[in-house]
Amino acid sequence: MTTQKFSIVVAIDEKRGIGKDNKIPWHIKEDLVNLKNLTQNQVVIVGANTFISMQSYYDKSEREMPGKVYIVVTDDRGFNPSCSNAICVYSIDEAIKKAKSYGTDEVFIIGGSQIFKQMIKLANKLYLTIVKGDFDCDTFFPGYSDFKNVISSKREKNETNEFEFKILERITKE
Ligand SMILES: NC(=O)c1ccc[n+]([C@@H]2O[C@H](COP(=O)([O-])OP(=O)(O)OC[C@H]3O[C@@H](n4cnc5c(N)ncnc54)[C@H](OP(=O)(O)O)[C@@H]3O)[C@@H](O)[C@H]2O)c1
Repeated sequence: MTTQKFSIVVAIDEKRGIGKDNKIPWHIKEDLVNLKNLTQNQVVIVGANTFISMQSYYDKSEREMPGKVYIVVTDDRGFNPSCSNAICVYSIDEAIKKAKSYGTDEVFIIGGSQIFKQMIKLANKLYLTIVKGDFDCDTFFPGYSDFKNVISSKREKNETNEFEFKILERITKE
């Protein structure tokens, strides 16, 4: 049996900010493509706030969300995601159990802040985008100093933003 890995995908600004008013405060197409490519047909764990924000984005663009399944963590037993590839769970433990039941090699944790804070300890890999600047965020990514092993790093820019794609791995203590 293969051991399943938990990975985080996140974009942060230089203050570790990730969101403002339940939205991502920058629009970087390259980063959305990166998220789509990583999570296409994959098992994804997501908090209810982030899921609602994503669902409204995908509903507007009339496209299917790319993951195989979105495991939405919520306390709200009445929450009913409108897309067919989403299911609700009511605790982090339940999210982990459900994710494991799919038996994939890698599970992707895509936020938001509350979910990252509770699940970062499980993750071994960090797909990190660092966006240059301070976007006056109201939600933040936790410290990630345990992820010291740099697998790759690539700087890019578009008309509006400079950003860096990094893949980091956790150094496990012996
Ligand atoms: N830059 C990035 O890469 C990135 C990625 C993702 C999100 N974001 C941003 O992050 C912000 C959202 O983050 P957030 O922290 O507000 O929300 P979140 O983590 O997406 O969702 C929080 C919600 O998840 C549920 N929840 C959390 N822990 C739970 C637990 N242990 N048991 C049951 N339910 C639980 C609760 O839902 P209920 O209230 O329904 O009970 C809670 O209100 C937005 O601004 C979003 O745009 C940015």
